[in-house]
Amino acid sequence: MRKTRLLISIIIILCIVAIPIISTGNVNNNNVEVLEASANINIENESIEINKKEENNTQLKDEENKENKKTTIEQKQLKDNLLKKEEVEKLNYQFKTIEKYENALVYKIKYPVFNNDNINEKINEHISYLSNSFKQDFEGYEPMSEDDKVIFNLNTDVNIFKEKLLFIKFSIERNYNTYPNPVKFYETYIIDIEDNKQIEISEFLNKGYEDLFYIKAKEYFLNNYGLTITKQSENYNDIKPDKEIYKKIYLSNENLEVFIYDYKKQEEVILNIPIDNFMPYVKEEYASEPTTTETTTVSTTLTTEAPTETTTLSTETSTQATTQKTEDTNNTNRKIDKTKPMIALTFDDGPNSATTNRILDILEENNSVATFFVVSRRIEKDTETLKRMDSLGNQIGNHTANHKDLTKISSEQIKTEVDIVNDKLKKAIGKEASIVRAPYGATNDNVKASVEYPLIMWNVDTKDWKSKDAKAIEKEVLGKVKDGDIVLMHDLYGSTADACEVIIPKLIEQGYQLVTVEELFYYKGIELKNGNKYFNANVK
Ligand code: NI
Repeated sequence: MRKTRLLISIIIILCIVAIPIISTGNVNNNNVEVLEASANINIENESIEINKKEENNTQLKDEENKENKKTTIEQKQLKDNLLKKEEVEKLNYQFKTIEKYENALVYKIKYPVFNNDNINEKINEHISYLSNSFKQDFEGYEPMSEDDKVIFNLNTDVNIFKEKLLFIKFSIERNYNTYPNPVKFYETYIIDIEDNKQIEISEFLNKGYEDLFYIKAKEYFLNNYGLTITKQSENYNDIKPDKEIYKKIYLSNENLEVFIYDYKKQEEVILNIPIDNFMPYVKEEYASEPTTTETTTVSTTLTTEAPTETTTLSTETSTQATTQKTEDTNNTNRKIDKTKPMIALTFDDGPNSATTNRILDILEENNSVATFFVVSRRIEKDTETLKRMDSLGNQIGNHTANHKDLTKISSEQIKTEVDIVNDKLKKAIGKEASIVRAPYGATNDNVKASVEYPLIMWNVDTKDWKSKDAKAIEKEVLGKVKDGDIVLMHDLYGSTADACEVIIPKLIEQGYQLVTVEELFYYKGIELKNGNKYFNANVK
């Protein structure tokens, strides 16, 4: 008898621990009903079991309460043991895919399976809920023809941030063959891995993030529709800096994705904020590097008994530097003809070993150079890439320590932001940067007075961070560039490296010389002065 009680307590503890993990109000409300209605959908096999457990629990709960006092200590010990057991192995996952046909209804579901049962239970529950509400909506659907299908497409993205936080994004599409547009929406969750509970955005980011999101949303409407949104604008309330407006975020490897409502398209859209832009907002406890004992990520194979399972993708492995070329081919044979047109390609926010090295490869193959404006965190993280960059003849510029908007900080702070990077560069490659690029290109009189270096802007903006589309980037550059121009890109993205594969040989073919910022101004006979802003070296 004592043994069964103990078992019951374990189940209850598991549920208590698990419930806060993923829950949206409506899921909990009609969970049982929805799950029962779905008994014939394959993916829910597991969830149904879970559900039964929960039912049992409620029945036994009263009895359990009486016994509570006695077993509290044992429970606590058990809980501790369970947590300890989980700590041994790092959180990891595999993706599974299910495709199921049910008359006119098609389910395509990609979901992760973790080495953590609590998380799995909650994910399964939630996917059950979503697929069942789809089923309920379309159960009586009468197809017009055999090809007329209603598709429920659920994709799950997950990302583990510094071993501390788990970001989950469900992208749900309901696709009607007979209508041109799918109905798309997203749901996102942040889970504190150690505490095993869901957290709010305000627990992850410091105050002020609403303002950053608002600025990005304003940019979105300006860039896409030419709309300048002010407090008087009719859709100001959709994007105003308020935490109630910004409730969904997802952190990928490259960007923070912020979800906003685009009232023109009448759908949810994603704003991408590069990691360096929002890192200053991340709370100290999550921003620091994890202190881990070197346990390698074991990829456990947890097979669910889903009969229609099709593919299994393995756990993502960390992307390491691609081929590091030998550095003996210094660009000493590069000759610049000052009578011929020249362009300075610039890359911000790096280095980022995988993508930066690809760009360096392309430059090297084409006997060309560029300028890289680096931020402090990445200098230490990627010293090798930085050294290679330098040894190939590229110029390294200062993009400040923390990528703050310099117009919003004091003169002293501006100087510190610049000095930190130069100190780190000195240590890493033995020399400081002689030029500065202000984050966001944001400057004012105070910035100009405080930065004791030339401020390098740009006049061709590829918007690569936004489009992440190689073709679009190529178009921005090849369609606009001319002698003396400075082109802005970011060496954080694969799409930018892809675009470089086309842009760099093409520009050379068109007769341009690709030079550093320093070379550009030198050969154009323009002397760079401290505190002055330079957008290009076009000489009339
Ligand atoms: Ni930047």
